[in-house]
Amino acid sequence: MRNLIRMLNLLAVAALAIPTTAQSGNPARGEYMLAAAGCIACHTVPEGGAFLAGGRKLKTDFGTFFTPNITPDLETGIGNWSEEDFVRALKEGKAPDGSRYYPTFPYTSYTRMTRRDMLDLKAYLDEVPAVNNPVPKHDLHFPFGIRASMVGWQMMFFDDAPFEPDPDRSKTWNRGAYLVNGPGHCGECHTPRNILGAIDSDRPLSGNTSGPGGAPVPNITRGPGGIRDWNEDDIVSALEIGLLPDGDFVGGAMTDVIEQSTGKLTVDDLQAIAKYLSSLPPLDSAR
Ligand code: HEC
Ligand code: HEC
Repeated sequence: MRNLIRMLNLLAVAALAIPTTAQSGNPARGEYMLAAAGCIACHTVPEGGAFLAGGRKLKTDFGTFFTPNITPDLETGIGNWSEEDFVRALKEGKAPDGSRYYPTFPYTSYTRMTRRDMLDLKAYLDEVPAVNNPVPKHDLHFPFGIRASMVGWQMMFFDDAPFEPDPDRSKTWNRGAYLVNGPGHCGECHTPRNILGAIDSDRPLSGNTSGPGGAPVPNITRGPGGIRDWNEDDIVSALEIGLLPDGDFVGGAMTDVIEQSTGKLTVDDLQAIAKYLSSLPPLDSAR
């Protein structure tokens, strides 16, 4: 009996000793998720910036943001973040110190990602080269410069409900819905926003008169001004290589999306996105 108790104690100690930092994600799947979620475009300075080392300047109605360094550098990156820190950032828009992120970081969509996809992503990020690259502070207009204002913003506008598959739809449709509304964060550019920068969930994907850099973003529903008579193959071609049905090519901010995100997805995933987009209610283009 005494031996048994001692053995149980030893087992309990062994269990406690398992390092909590043990990586549980799969880095190869994480690399695919990084593409699906389009993290590279914002977190890398175009033309010559070190991979994911931040510093890209994003001009918005609230002022200018400089994206953080998300390489595993201990001093200037996220090298000392735990898995839970990382999941909390994507799921809750919350920093390790409890402060809230600005929705320029589209956690408002990433919150729909599965925990598994987040952990895979973290496992991949742990493996990219650590780059010491301090980035400038954001330069925001009053009162947005006060980060605490984001507590109220989150209370008013942030819905962190997980993605719920629709049991009446096919597996393919649900995969498309997940990719568009979660990692792909298409609505962050293609859905109109209110004056406080919150996405208008009543008019999903109906276009945005003032997208990144103030440029308009088209309606991608089947409504007037949208992708009215496109078939699913047309959508796949646009997302894969940027080719439009009229023979022209996609430009603007969508070029980055295609190069670093949708152009790297499997044909199955692109077809899933096409199936989902084709099924959406046609809406008038946002004005
Ligand atoms: C549209 C641009 C954009 C995209 C896309 C984007 N981010 Fe960010 N990210 C930002 C900005 C801007 C911030 C800073 C937010 C703040 O200061 O409140 C940020 C902050 C972060 C932080 C917090 C870093 C810190 O030091 O506190 C992490 C982690 C992060 N992003 C990871 C990611 C990952 C992973 C992805 C892809 C799944 C991603 N981001 C996609 C713009 C973006
Ligand atoms: C960073 C902002 C941004 C994100 C994120 C984004 N788009 Fe776009 N998208 C644009 C812009 C801007 C255009 C218009 C490009 C142009 O002027 O040629 C566009 C064009 C398109 C078009 C062509 C529409 C047309 O009528 O020509 C399709 C289809 C499209 N996007 C689908 C998507 C899908 C699906 C996603 C998510 C996987 C997505 N986009 C994510 C900004 C974005």
